[in-house]
Amino acid sequence: MPVDLSFHYNCPDCRVNEDLLQRRTCALLRECRVADHGLSILFVDDQEISWLNDHYRHKSGPTNVLSFPFADGADITLAQLPVKELGDIIISVDTALRESREFNQSLHDRLTWLITHGLLHLLGYDHELSETDAIVMEDKEQELLRKLQYPRSTAMTHLAINVDHIATIRQARGGVEPDPVAAAAICEMAGAAGIVVHLREDRRHIIDRDIRLLRETVKTKLNLEMGANKEIIAIALALKPDMITLVPEKRQELTTEGGLDVHAQKKSLVKTIDRMTKAGIPVSLFVDPDARQIKAAHEIGATFVEIHTGRYCDAITEKAREQEFQTIATMAEEAYQAGLRVYAGHGLNYQTTARIAALDTIEELSIGHAIIARAAFVGLDRAVRDMLTIVQEAGRIS
Ligand code: PXP
Repeated sequence: MPVDLSFHYNCPDCRVNEDLLQRRTCALLRECRVADHGLSILFVDDQEISWLNDHYRHKSGPTNVLSFPFADGADITLAQLPVKELGDIIISVDTALRESREFNQSLHDRLTWLITHGLLHLLGYDHELSETDAIVMEDKEQELLRKLQYPRSTAMTHLAINVDHIATIRQARGGVEPDPVAAAAICEMAGAAGIVVHLREDRRHIIDRDIRLLRETVKTKLNLEMGANKEIIAIALALKPDMITLVPEKRQELTTEGGLDVHAQKKSLVKTIDRMTKAGIPVSLFVDPDARQIKAAHEIGATFVEIHTGRYCDAITEKAREQEFQTIATMAEEAYQAGLRVYAGHGLNYQTTARIAALDTIEELSIGHAIIARAAFVGLDRAVRDMLTIVQEAGRIS
């Protein structure tokens, strides 16, 4: 039975992920064994919920959630209903937003809590009846939210492979093997959703010939990683990759060390974004998980941000890793809500990827070194498939 989500809510500063809430609600219905029943959820603002609160409950002011069971007033069980309908849940996004700040939760987690609460009311739970009823309802709520744990069920995170290090091996001898173009084809055949290459100013791995051939042969999506320098911008405009990712680039670094300081370079970045946009090339900005950078990326018109996962991957203690993970989760949510499409990458390996892949707000991961390193022992096809399994398993509802 479908869950019908409707929005009477319009706010330019906050974006609600309908797919995500739909998936979470379907999982809740399955957990409560009422997946064969219809349910309608309406998202409104404070003004509309205040009116409903006053009209139906004779209470003034806004509230967070209202539930109207299909058989309201009739003392019958679900099994006796003439149709398989649970009823309506009405949620104020204004109140949910305020509460999410107050409880230091993401908006989507707050909305999920409110859906769970509203659903339990529809199923006959009522915390207002007595203290015992309140405890029973809260326990059930906690149990459902624990089981849900907010994983995604359908829209899996994509895996894009960075093949720079195939080129690094080739350049070690200055010859023609191994060829990153052949590597890209193997990655695609193994299930990669995209190919990423970084054309560096010093051409230390990927060279111009590679990107020309990749442009012709990549069938999924070619993401050209690059510094915003004049020569490389001209190459990108002529090549027209499916997208570009702007990164800070220093000659002396071994790999990209940190995210772009978008906030400090707004003026120059906006020019590059404008030129790319005019050429039909969407731009991603590689940023640290930092609210100021994400806000700046949104303000200057980036389509994507790629959140730097390096600090999370490099963390030495469990506590530090957990902190870095929570920062990434919060920043990904913030970027998503601002309307940015969110990618993540750098340093991810076979141990650290699963948690990041389970975040619903992250659309794609960009992974290179760990996969190419494993490929040296097990072959590239197998190394890609092993990572793909991790990404896909992380996205399944357990
Ligand atoms: N994303 C960006 C922006 C990068 O610069 C890199 C490294 O080239 C990656 C992702 C991939 O990182 P790794 O090779 O550590 O998986």
